[in-house]
Amino acid sequence: MENLPDLRVSLGRIHLRNPVLVASGTFGYGEEYKDFVDPGELGGIITKAVTLKPRKGNPPPRLAETPAGLLNSIGLENPGVEVFLKEKLPHLKRLKTRIIVNIAGEKKTEYLYLAEKLGKGGGIDALEVNISCPNVEKRGLIFGTRADLAFSLVKGLKQATDLPLIVKLTPNVTDITEIAQAAEEAGAEALSLINTILGMAIDVNTRRPKLGAITGGLSGPAIRPVAVRMVRQTFQKVNLPLIGMGGIMSAEDALEFILAGATAVAVGTANFVDPAVSLKIVEGLRQYLRKMRINYFHHLIGDLRT
Ligand SMILES: Cc1cc2nc3c(=O)[nH]c(=O)nc-3n(C[C@H](O)[C@H](O)[C@H](O)COP(=O)(O)O)c2cc1C
Repeated sequence: MENLPDLRVSLGRIHLRNPVLVASGTFGYGEEYKDFVDPGELGGIITKAVTLKPRKGNPPPRLAETPAGLLNSIGLENPGVEVFLKEKLPHLKRLKTRIIVNIAGEKKTEYLYLAEKLGKGGGIDALEVNISCPNVEKRGLIFGTRADLAFSLVKGLKQATDLPLIVKLTPNVTDITEIAQAAEEAGAEALSLINTILGMAIDVNTRRPKLGAITGGLSGPAIRPVAVRMVRQTFQKVNLPLIGMGGIMSAEDALEFILAGATAVAVGTANFVDPAVSLKIVEGLRQYLRKMRINYFHHLIGDLRT
């Protein structure tokens, strides 16, 4: 007998048992949350960024709380792809959920090498191509702010790997749909949006910035209306499935993104407040469908009444 309500959704070739993912950088490589969340109950896990070489990240302090938000300047701290393959991927592969690996680089060649290498190991369902980190100096963000560079990067990645490519967009642009369209034309399977919004906070007593890196990325409920607006605009311009994120704390928040046009959502900063929140959101979506007498979750996607 069919199990209703049916929460399954597809991001192109990636099939999820439900639309709730955990966002990159807020769930480690899966192991960190094993006492709180059964990954088999999630749509999937998006890992913390993996880069070619190990990165130490930015100088401390790297986190500052703001009203309704969190400023971070982690700077893509990670052990590098070799250690990821040897020490992190074997554990991830055993989890009964979709594994999406977030990759970042400063040069196109770094991204291509990473994609080739990760594509060979097996056990990875998709790559999330982070062209949007505000916390790396120089080149990291440039792919996300220029349509021509985003196009050329995604095109190159398509040749380097058969893995589905999810391109993660930055909100730190005038028109996010231009970059979205470039990624679509180049062959992206899906888009993730949004990454953090560039921000800054100052301690007036010391007159110093609250972050060692001076600026950082703002996440949490404060950015949700911006994220929902960008999902809506992108939904109206491209035909790709979208993963919506930015300040999702509850099932109701997640539903805003779905009605705006997202096929799935990712929960980020909320994991720091309640490590089991992602599972509560899955349950909340199920209850909403029952209350509304909707059998298939995917009927809600983009179903905004205007
Ligand atoms: C501490 C922290 C680390 C993050 N690290 C990454 C990362 O490694 N790669 C990435 O693409 N996004 C990273 N992000 C961005 C999140 O994945 C997400 O796009 C953003 O925080 C908005 O969602 P939220 O408001 O639910 O946190 C990070 C966010 C936070 C708060």
